[in-house]
Amino acid sequence: MTPGSKSQTILEWHQFIGVDETITSKPINRIAGSKPRPTTHATIIREASLPTESSFTSRKRLVSNSLPMATALTQNSNDTVRTAVELAALAKSVEGLRKTLENFDGCPLKKTATNLVFVDGNADADILFIGEGPGAEEDRQGIPFVGTSGNLLGKMLASIGLSRGEILISNTVFWRPPGNRTPTHQEIAACMPFVERLIEIVRPKILVMLGGAAAKSLLGEAQGIGRLRGRWFSFKTQNMPHPVVATPMFHPAYLLRTPIQK
Ligand code: URA
Repeated sequence: MTPGSKSQTILEWHQFIGVDETITSKPINRIAGSKPRPTTHATIIREASLPTESSFTSRKRLVSNSLPMATALTQNSNDTVRTAVELAALAKSVEGLRKTLENFDGCPLKKTATNLVFVDGNADADILFIGEGPGAEEDRQGIPFVGTSGNLLGKMLASIGLSRGEILISNTVFWRPPGNRTPTHQEIAACMPFVERLIEIVRPKILVMLGGAAAKSLLGEAQGIGRLRGRWFSFKTQNMPHPVVATPMFHPAYLLRTPIQK
């Protein structure tokens, strides 16, 4: 391949967007000949793409979510969750919430983790991303999304002109699940009051849930991420005056394992 040639430019572009393997020896144009998608998604996106406070009441077709998990569980009086709700409610800032979490022993994952992994980015951001849970590198550094998933997320953000400093990012659990397993319902429930409080404090304009665990636990939806992604929901806790628009998308780790979904 000649340096500076068209092929070289195309190869570099693929590397930039995170393509790291080829699927077949010949390229397939999956767009040519396909029909446009006349799905309800477009309607929902159009109706939900006005994240101003005044638009919330008029957005009738927006898919609504059920009660956030912590609220539902508190009603079932789980002691740990109730304590977590009470402690989280006392925090008035993102840093205050971090300090509260540092002293919180209600999540079993804390026992096996090296570090608390809470947030990274800009606490005044308009967009808040919630992932699943920290991996090995995040556990080592105490910062969310600094491993390979974070690398891809950074590229995805760059492709729409955003840097990590312009968003805030966190997870459904704040300590690494051993061996990177999916966090259990109990572990997510213990951390969820802090996630909800984070959303109340930051008051983002858009909430993005990365992957099925985040989408299911925040939206209270049973459907898988394949069905939820790309749709716009409305997320609200009891303490929020207005809902925030929320959308699930594939987790970067899934996209790394399944590049065709990129
Ligand atoms: N995957 C996540 O869901 N969160 C992280 O912080 C890192 C990888």
